[in-house]
Amino acid sequence: MAQITIDGSTPVTFHCDETDTIMRAALRSGIGFPYSCNVGACGNCRFQLLEGEVEHVQTSPRAWTERDEKRQRYLGCQARPKTDCRIKLRTDEQYEPGTRPLPAMARLLAKTALTHDMTEFALELDTPLSFLAGQYALLGTPAIDSPRAYSMCNVSGGDTQWNFQIKRVPGGAMTEQLFDHLQPGDTLTFDGPFGTAYLREDSDRDILCLAGGSGLSPMIAIARAAAEHPQLRQKRLDFVFGGRRPEDMCGEDLLGELPGFGTTLHYHPAISEDVPADEWVGLRGFVHDVASQLFGEELRDREIYFAGPPLMAQAVQKMLFDLKVPFDQVHFDEFY
Ligand SMILES: Cc1cc2nc3c(=O)[nH]c(=O)nc-3n(C[C@H](O)[C@H](O)[C@H](O)COP(=O)(O)OP(=O)(O)OC[C@H]3O[C@@H](n4cnc5c(N)ncnc54)[C@H](O)[C@@H]3O)c2cc1C
Ligand code: FES
Repeated sequence: MAQITIDGSTPVTFHCDETDTIMRAALRSGIGFPYSCNVGACGNCRFQLLEGEVEHVQTSPRAWTERDEKRQRYLGCQARPKTDCRIKLRTDEQYEPGTRPLPAMARLLAKTALTHDMTEFALELDTPLSFLAGQYALLGTPAIDSPRAYSMCNVSGGDTQWNFQIKRVPGGAMTEQLFDHLQPGDTLTFDGPFGTAYLREDSDRDILCLAGGSGLSPMIAIARAAAEHPQLRQKRLDFVFGGRRPEDMCGEDLLGELPGFGTTLHYHPAISEDVPADEWVGLRGFVHDVASQLFGEELRDREIYFAGPPLMAQAVQKMLFDLKVPFDQVHFDEFY
């Protein structure tokens, strides 16, 4: 067990197992260590190593540059301690976890197809644990090099069942395991919950959820939790879901089960590919354009949650920036 000290006027110390990463160990100790993706791609967890030795879990994480290496900067979600360490970074209370993440074992209970390439996976953990709507967990199997992040779609009852809506990625290592190899009864490694794009229960604003493809799961969780919440269920919630083609569309039946569907809760499916008029009669365009056309400057008064592939996330951020939507009303974890 290594001792990690975060330098500062009041140094903070915590312990990190040699098999754990410094960022996850900090969160397990309740420390607000900044992060987003948890898979070495966004760079938000970067810290400076002042003393000691670390190694990254992945040999070349996407967000780690030559410049970082020269300056002794590492990624907290990837760095495992080889010795006691002293590090420099600015902690932030917005990252302090509501539920401290824990590693666990998960058993696959069921797979339910949603579309030709989206499936809901129900997992049962070996220990009860709660999470907030919009958060994610890390799932892995011995067949893949490092775990992948997946967002939960159910509302946590603090029990053992966690459900995930996952899109198959052609050539993807983990989705191939999930879709083609794992069967009910098989086990996966699990670590969670993580993520800061959770439902803000204290907000008084109407809500907008924007989901593109693989981003469906956390937005369904937000809509489900809002529909159960005594104050938020009286607010308007618009749910824009974007896919390429009509066969990618899903979510309407899941939202249709919720109270308020059609009155306070509105579903807006949109496709981005140019298909003939007799194949699609609904909205067309990318999610950010559709949201901007439907709501425009009204978005400044909304609490906004979004999830989806990196290009969609960039386009949504730009659209919200151009519309001058206050950044503290916008919630997302970066997908990769
Ligand atoms: C915070 C967060 C939450 C997420 N939530 C969800 C969710 O709820 N649902 C969901 O479906 N996804 C989610 N994701 C995405 C998910 O974590 C995975 O990235 C995704 O499922 C792909 O994983 P994979 O192992 O199947 O693909 P990978 O093996 O990681 O491959 C990804 C892509 O890279 C290509 N590739 C792989 N290896 C190589 C190589 N050597 N050279 C060139 N190209 C290569 C593959 O062909 C594929 O296109 C989330 C991601 C993050 C960060
Ligand atoms: S790179 Fe570590 S949280 Fe994204």
